[in-house]
Amino acid sequence: MDSKNRRDFLKLCLASAPALVFSRRAAGITEPAALAGQTVSTVPAISRFIDPLPLPRRLKPHGKRRGTSFYRVRMVEFEKRLHSQLPLTRLWGYEGEYPGPVFEVRCGAPIDVEWINHLPSHHLFPIDQRLHACAPPTPAVRVVPHLHGARTDSRSDGLPENWFAPSHSVVYHYPNQQNAATLWYHDHAGGIERLNLYAGLAGFYFLRDEHELGMNLPSDDYEIPLMLQDRSVDVSGHLVYQPTFDDGTPSPSGAWGPQFFGELPVVNGAIYPFLEVEPRRYRLRVLNAANGRFFNLFMNLAKTPTDIPSLVTFHQIGSDGGLLAAPVPLQHLLLGPAERADLVVDFTGLEGRTVTLSNNARSPYPGWSTPQGLYAPLLELMQFRVTRPLSPGARSFSMPPPILVPRLDPAQAVRTRDFVLTDNMDSKGRSLGMLIDGKMYDAPTTEFPVLGSVEKWRFINTTEDAHPMHLHLVQFQILEREGYDYALWLLHGRLRLNGQPRPPAPNEAGWKDTAILNPGEVLTILVPFLGFTGKYVYHCHIAEHADNDMMRPFVVVAPRTAGEHPSRSEPSSS
Ligand code: C2O
Ligand code: CU
Ligand code: CU
Repeated sequence: MDSKNRRDFLKLCLASAPALVFSRRAAGITEPAALAGQTVSTVPAISRFIDPLPLPRRLKPHGKRRGTSFYRVRMVEFEKRLHSQLPLTRLWGYEGEYPGPVFEVRCGAPIDVEWINHLPSHHLFPIDQRLHACAPPTPAVRVVPHLHGARTDSRSDGLPENWFAPSHSVVYHYPNQQNAATLWYHDHAGGIERLNLYAGLAGFYFLRDEHELGMNLPSDDYEIPLMLQDRSVDVSGHLVYQPTFDDGTPSPSGAWGPQFFGELPVVNGAIYPFLEVEPRRYRLRVLNAANGRFFNLFMNLAKTPTDIPSLVTFHQIGSDGGLLAAPVPLQHLLLGPAERADLVVDFTGLEGRTVTLSNNARSPYPGWSTPQGLYAPLLELMQFRVTRPLSPGARSFSMPPPILVPRLDPAQAVRTRDFVLTDNMDSKGRSLGMLIDGKMYDAPTTEFPVLGSVEKWRFINTTEDAHPMHLHLVQFQILEREGYDYALWLLHGRLRLNGQPRPPAPNEAGWKDTAILNPGEVLTILVPFLGFTGKYVYHCHIAEHADNDMMRPFVVVAPRTAGEHPSRSEPSSS
């Protein structure tokens, strides 16, 4: 063990007792909020909760082509006020909107989308040319939209290398052959995804089916998309993107850094907004679209974040890939970057009250070894004010009935693949980038799952932070999370699990495409590879990590050719 490793190891030992800490998550117990006063901040002085929550508009198709609805979406630079006391902010948005307009589509009804890069040739942020595919002659401005959570052919997936420059466009096909779900689209250009996402390139994609539409869930004015992000802005309204190292020191100007946390909460493109609601049920479709911030959400009736919290229980009815087997009552909900939660909140009986959507997740998450107060904790995100009268003749909405969500059986898995996440440090203990299995994105493909098979994938976290792990193409299920013997791993490279696997909490037991991998743990998922053969990617969804180079390809192969592909991962024992 060299001294750096030993230091990390000691820190980990001191900081963890993972079983204890993690079971707190499972039990939904609140972690103490960081102390607001400690934060060093350059946030402009603005008032909270004075701007109404913007609601993204629904996107209309441009017509039909060969029987398929056809959409056209331009990416443009534009200006918008993120807060009424701030000047205009220059942003990038789909159709000039931030968040982008909402796709409203039906299962079984495919659509085609022409994505047009109408952006200028200068990027809003400096490009770190040392990163993957970022050196000239590669243009500074390039985009590739990805429909997160969708089962599409590889050509339409939005792989990081399939970027296109301004004045170019692509037509992608979305079959919509999967469960009704809260999907979202965002930019995925290799090496600059974090910058393009931060500039504003993200939007919702609601996939619905007859079954769900027949459930009498809150709809129309009572179904509210909530895109949660964090941004820093300066007094002139410019977006500020200044990443940092673990110890909080800023990375050199324009250079990549392993983490970024904005100082202000932005919901649907507005800083500290409010929404006036009626005393009745609402459906909230919540997305964590932050670059790297986790949110541990709760609904608080207390007047200020320092008052004793008074929590409103809400129900999670769906996860990334569709409805849960039954609504799950929650008081806290942890969402890593890219995770979605379909919620029903009942404001009945709360006439005249204000419910603050609050957050107590630390940044970085879970931050056991990071000094507290390095980053603004964003204790409050937005307010719901129960000030509207119940609209006359309003029908009442239902909770979804129990549905069958079949649980995958680990015995179905035809093989197990292990992936080790590491943080490469310089001599000062600063991250040079995090990798999966020590490999860069461009190293030869090692994973060739067979179309139609189920595999068990195990992600082994040797770093100090949690990583939201995401696979393209698929919806998977979490089998379990389990601690392991870190010392044995470090000294002998052997994986010994601690023998206390924890199944997912009920609100994580449905279909997922992104799942949180805690430090000191192994996350095991069961993945059915359905739909298409071809190249896809899996990666950490902290955009800073994905850009440098915590992302790897996999290639789904047809059953008869499967034997011809080499593969490194052998079924492993533990
Ligand atoms: Cu949300 Cu690879 O993407
Ligand atoms: Cu994705
Ligand atoms: Cu990560």
